[in-house]
Amino acid sequence: MADLRIFVTRQLSIDPREVVGPGIAVEVFPGPQAPPRELLVAHARGAHALVTMPSDPVDGPLLDALPSLRIVANHAVGLDNIDLQAALDRRVWVTHTPDVLTDATAELTFALILAAARRLREGEALVRQGRFAGWAPTMLLGRGLRGRTLGVLGLGRIGQAVARLGAAFGMDILYTRQRSFRRADGEGEGPEVGLGELLRRSDVVTIHCALGPTTRGLLGAEELARMKRGALLVNTARGAVVDEGALVAALERGHLGGAALDVYEREPEVHPGLLGRDDVVLLPHLGSATEEARRCMAELALGDAARVLRGQPPLHPVVQGRQGV
Ligand code: DGY
Repeated sequence: MADLRIFVTRQLSIDPREVVGPGIAVEVFPGPQAPPRELLVAHARGAHALVTMPSDPVDGPLLDALPSLRIVANHAVGLDNIDLQAALDRRVWVTHTPDVLTDATAELTFALILAAARRLREGEALVRQGRFAGWAPTMLLGRGLRGRTLGVLGLGRIGQAVARLGAAFGMDILYTRQRSFRRADGEGEGPEVGLGELLRRSDVVTIHCALGPTTRGLLGAEELARMKRGALLVNTARGAVVDEGALVAALERGHLGGAALDVYEREPEVHPGLLGRDDVVLLPHLGSATEEARRCMAELALGDAARVLRGQPPLHPVVQGRQGV
């Protein structure tokens, strides 16, 4: 057991040894950014567990290059960076970190909704640039949220938490689940609607679905054109759900009232057409970035890695790997 080793691809917010305990060595890649593939393989060679970040692609060739791996513990709830079938084929466990980042991500989503609706970015710039000449009745008028419709695209844990916050702000809630994306407009009476109806009726559309084959590029030119004129688009899920070029075009022709994004189609690249716009708020993938959430995410990922190495089943499996030590 003394030879067991966990490799973590990035510095975490806690000391991994606090969680892992005796008998298992932990090595952390020293750099702040993702190690390039060759470097990752060189450092992780011989490791039995790999703790990965949402920006680390894990595929068949990587798993083949690291044949000692028993578990990939993703330090994230999203799993789009991992080829789950490749892990299943090789009987490598895959785990993730659900629940502990729900509130953090929902809160950040609301920070973005408020920032876009109340033009915080422009107001801040005005003050910092010394252009604030005193209170004025027409200065930077935004829009209130009470009585507006919040469309939650994807009603998982985070979508539900955002819907609760929206209700607390007096918003009317509509939502669509993945299975009802293709529901016909006007079908059903409850808040659950098809994608087309959600886009057509919402003043704010907020994205909370997982990224996968059915959601990649889900909001392209046609879907964005179906949104209400002047509506806001908010994304704290995965950038590739939205066609960023189509989003820029919809903003440029004034169809959308603004966008607030925490995630990008080709992260960390940002479409240049978004960078100079006053009606766009941009954050660097901070959804789960609270001390509390990041501590819990690290604890879950490292805890599951250590459990598997000790022959116990992990607590948050997505792919079942080999049982036993
Ligand atoms: C996740 O957990 O998937 C988030 O994107 C990380 O903040």
